Amino acid sequence: MEIRKVGVVGCGIMGAGIAQSCAQSGYPVTASEINEELLNKGLGIIKKSLAKSVEKGKLSKEDEEAILGRVKGTTNIEDFSDCDLVIEAVVENMDLKKKVFADLDRICPAHAILASNTSCLSVTEIAMATKKPDKVIGMHFFNPVPMMALLEVVTTVISSEETFNTVQSFGESLGKTVIVAQDKPGFIVNRLLGAFMLEAVRMVEAGIATREDIDNGMVLGCNHPMGPLSLADFVGLDTMYYIAESMYEELKDPKFAPPLLLKRLVTAGHLGRKTGKGFYDYT
Ligand SMILES: NC(=O)c1ccc[n+]([C@@H]2O[C@H](COP(=O)([O-])OP(=O)(O)OC[C@H]3O[C@@H](n4cnc5c(N)ncnc54)[C@H](O)[C@@H]3O)[C@@H](O)[C@H]2O)c1
Repeated sequence: MEIRKVGVVGCGIMGAGIAQSCAQSGYPVTASEINEELLNKGLGIIKKSLAKSVEKGKLSKEDEEAILGRVKGTTNIEDFSDCDLVIEAVVENMDLKKKVFADLDRICPAHAILASNTSCLSVTEIAMATKKPDKVIGMHFFNPVPMMALLEVVTTVISSEETFNTVQSFGESLGKTVIVAQDKPGFIVNRLLGAFMLEAVRMVEAGIATREDIDNGMVLGCNHPMGPLSLADFVGLDTMYYIAESMYEELKDPKFAPPLLLKRLVTAGHLGRKTGKGFYDYT
């Protein structure tokens, strides 16, 4: 199936990035938010990102205008009625995602594919909120979307081969390398990254090494761009805690159980960079 028009639900960090990537690859995009203020904020993320590329000489002024011309913002979900593919990027909440998918199922054309950018929720459960679960799939992008080369496509026991083939070609048309995961907690990247980051927290908790030495070990010894504890502060300790908890809940594997130190930091409001304190002090 050919994708001619794309919809993106939620124009936050990820939705804005996804809408920008699609428009940059030539697709007309409709991006939605819950109100005008958030919509303007989301469209502002795209404008700022494109302006930066122009400043750096990576994009011409004409291309910037053409890309912006392909993005239409809306606060009305009915505007997805002519989309061939809709990618959902609302906050990570199962009830909200189910509601969005049930609405999209009613509004979008019968041939439309509905994709979720969820980080750790079950795509199968989201799909069952629709009457066409074979047309629902996971498209897990990485932040910042226009710069990150990876797309993790998440298939389910109900998603069809046609849905997968279409989404794979679409992802490649965005210039992404597509990897395929089954609908299991954490998919590929977060399953590995989660275990790695949680182990780093346990090492601090057990007094095995300082946070600086753990981070330096991975940066200088393994060429990681950022150590696991700096990365935890960057992602947000509350997000990390939520992902660990939901993976542990499904897998019952102790390596995903959130360490008490992480729980205490979250309780204290030390959520990382966004609050100025986490494993490190940014104040
Ligand atoms: N931030 C990351 O690094 C990252 C990476 C991969 C996947 N994800 C996933 O992407 C999704 C979005 O994450 P984010 O970081 O962009 O969050 P965010 O909070 O920046 O953006 C979510 C946006 O969705 C909007 N929204 C909520 N309900 C809506 C509705 N009914 N209709 C339209 N818009 C609605 C919110 O107003 C908000 O602006 C989550 O599922 C998250 O797990 C995030």
